[in-house]
Amino acid sequence: MEFTANIQSLIPLPKKIIKFAYKKFQKAKSIFAVSHTMLAARLANTFMPKREKEIKPISQETLLKLIEQQNQLLEADWQDGQQGIYPVRILFDNPWRDFWGYYPQLWLDLPKVWQKQRNKEYQSFAPHINKEGYPPYYLQNFHYQTDGYLSDMSANLYDLQVEILFHGAADPMRRRILAPLKARLAQREPQHEIKVLDVACGTGRTLKFIRAAFPQASLYGIDLSMAYLRKANQLLSELPRELPQLAQANGEDLPYLDNYFHAVTNVFLFHELPSSARQRVIEECFRVTKPGGIFIICDSMQEGDFPQLQTMMDNFPLRFHEPYYKEYTTDNLVERLEQAGFENIKTQNHFVSKYWLAYKPKIN
Ligand SMILES: C[S@@+](CC[C@H](N)C(=O)[O-])C[C@H]1O[C@@H](n2cnc3c(N)ncnc32)[C@H](O)[C@@H]1O
Repeated sequence: MEFTANIQSLIPLPKKIIKFAYKKFQKAKSIFAVSHTMLAARLANTFMPKREKEIKPISQETLLKLIEQQNQLLEADWQDGQQGIYPVRILFDNPWRDFWGYYPQLWLDLPKVWQKQRNKEYQSFAPHINKEGYPPYYLQNFHYQTDGYLSDMSANLYDLQVEILFHGAADPMRRRILAPLKARLAQREPQHEIKVLDVACGTGRTLKFIRAAFPQASLYGIDLSMAYLRKANQLLSELPRELPQLAQANGEDLPYLDNYFHAVTNVFLFHELPSSARQRVIEECFRVTKPGGIFIICDSMQEGDFPQLQTMMDNFPLRFHEPYYKEYTTDNLVERLEQAGFENIKTQNHFVSKYWLAYKPKIN
């Protein structure tokens, strides 16, 4: 939705007002997400009192730390917009039609989610869903999601669910990859020659933001889920400029030539992979990145990043089916990246996410 951008082009609004509007916009998303979470937890408590007892209460200290980090994230998002890393209009982007259209469906789906949680059913798919050709670790109801990643309804509900999970800050977290991308790519190539691949692109939100930051670049996205790719195609085909090329593929076996992309990105995938697959995805991303190119991973924070937020990390796999999360939180991805051949690896944390920036050595 580009309402603010359109208004701004008619009446140039002072920066202060736009910033105020952005903060209020994020606040509204956050209040909505927290209210939904509290109401859903109350209902879950009625239907599954045993599970709710296992979930640790959030202390005042944790809550304050969370709010502080969320505010820092939003400030960084605003500042990047101000510095022209991406257009300010993108700060107000939200798939409203889907949000309101599918919100009732989210509630209607909850009894099925609780049933799966109660019966510990992690691999339940509708009979018509073809499960052939996927790696076994993928055939799961991640987050207890009905049909895992393999149905259109799952793809329709996904963005809404992620926004609720991250208190309305999923997109600002995705956008943290854009400043390092710009830093690496802005000066280097004629912009129309830049090629960027988003691995596990899901419903295409990250590609949408990369398109905003690099209007002329050629964009590519792969994912294992046809349903999510269909959803991404809907979103991205609305945008002006060249259509990103989407393909169904496994991140462990990318269908591209060696040294093909100037940049490869990856958002919220690694915590859903077993460690051997994580290593293979990193190796494939190394293979397809050009010498001198950048690889960026964005995923959950890890153990030791913020001791005050440990309860959040402990609760996450209790609330959601996330079989590889615990192991992920202690996995040394710097070591894995170095093992694959990347150098000069840097890490950052924003809100509840962590970022790895890795560079493929140049050929002298
Ligand atoms: C948590 S979602 C993240 C989606 C998206 N990147 C985002 O920012 O919301 C994980 C995505 O990874 C995809 N996925 C999981 N394992 C994969 C693999 N081995 N290869 C390609 N995609 C995979 C899923 O289909 C799903 O779309």
